[in-house]
Amino acid sequence: MQNKYLGMTPPMGWNSWNTFTWNINDALIRETADAMVSSGLKDAGYEYVVIDDCWSLKQRDENGNLVPDPEKFPHGMKAVADYVHSKGLKFGMYSCDGTHTCAGYPGSFEHEFQDAATFASWGVDYLKYDNCYKPSHMDGETLYRRMSLALRNCGRDIMFSACNWGHEDVHNWIQSAGAQLFRSTGDIQDSWESIKTLALSQLDKTQFSGPFCHNDIDMLVVGMHGGSNNEFIGKIGGCTDEEYRTHFSLWAIMNSPLMIGCDIRSMSDATKETLMNPDIIAINQDIECRGPYHIGQWNNPEAVFALVKPMSDGTLAIGMFNLGDKRNEMSLQFWDMGISSAAGIGLEMVNCWTHENEGVFTERYAGQIEPHGCLMFRAKPVKVR
Ligand code: GAL
Repeated sequence: MQNKYLGMTPPMGWNSWNTFTWNINDALIRETADAMVSSGLKDAGYEYVVIDDCWSLKQRDENGNLVPDPEKFPHGMKAVADYVHSKGLKFGMYSCDGTHTCAGYPGSFEHEFQDAATFASWGVDYLKYDNCYKPSHMDGETLYRRMSLALRNCGRDIMFSACNWGHEDVHNWIQSAGAQLFRSTGDIQDSWESIKTLALSQLDKTQFSGPFCHNDIDMLVVGMHGGSNNEFIGKIGGCTDEEYRTHFSLWAIMNSPLMIGCDIRSMSDATKETLMNPDIIAINQDIECRGPYHIGQWNNPEAVFALVKPMSDGTLAIGMFNLGDKRNEMSLQFWDMGISSAAGIGLEMVNCWTHENEGVFTERYAGQIEPHGCLMFRAKPVKVR
């Protein structure tokens, strides 16, 4: 490893799966890399352009090597990687710990070292590693360790993105197995129900991630608005812009990687504003990567709660979420964060979506939150007397 900082904070980028699934090709990846730069996403911190499943032929070549589908990638993968690199971005690909990928292409089982060398020769910087068609006599830990070893010995810094959907208590062993991120959930869908279910499922897992090993709650659906070509992910409707803002806020404060899943060549202004909100991104990218703690609203804790993430500069990132279907109040009592007004300490609250400084509060902050909405703050402890 040359880069000691690889994966220190959650990776940010784009992945082809949510919108395009099998419908991927050279032109799409190049146009996406272009859009990453021209839209401002790169300047906002997004770095990786990742090709998911369905990029190869269904058979390896006579030497057992993976072969990019020549119809989808007529110039091969190195050419794609070179193009992505020429834009100052990093390039990611996908394989699987089983005999086949989830969509039925060759997986890396018993080809781990050969495939890692292939990826390195193409200039790959990130490998998403799935869990389909895993031989039942093998445990996931062994297989993820094996690919991790292969990547560490391939001569190139390749970020290792494990994707076993939270099986086998992955949070207990994945950091020592050497992955920089680990998928902890089943697949996201472009719906409010899915966003809510995935976020709630990880609230008790925040202590298992930290710098260099991040809990991946799955790729973002922000801005998809039903634009997937895959019925399971969501072809119709999608979510409202407010729901996408809440989704982005949850993923950011829970320290999930921020991997965009929409078509970034045609984002609306609202989508750009959400994905490029610098105050929210800063919360996600804090170098200490401390997990947030949870404070439920006393009279409605199932639907309404706050997440509080201590930041490395001594401020607090505070998200107040209303996952319920009615407008609700969240009253955040500062005592629940260990801040006593008797000690003369208040919080100066800057709203990360309106970017307004709302002033100094003592004892509590009470706000009305729209259904499926949120309030996000950066709060600075200040002496009030
Ligand atoms: C799933 C994975 C998805 C996507 C898909 C490709 O197992 O969770 O994120 O990679 O496979 O077939």
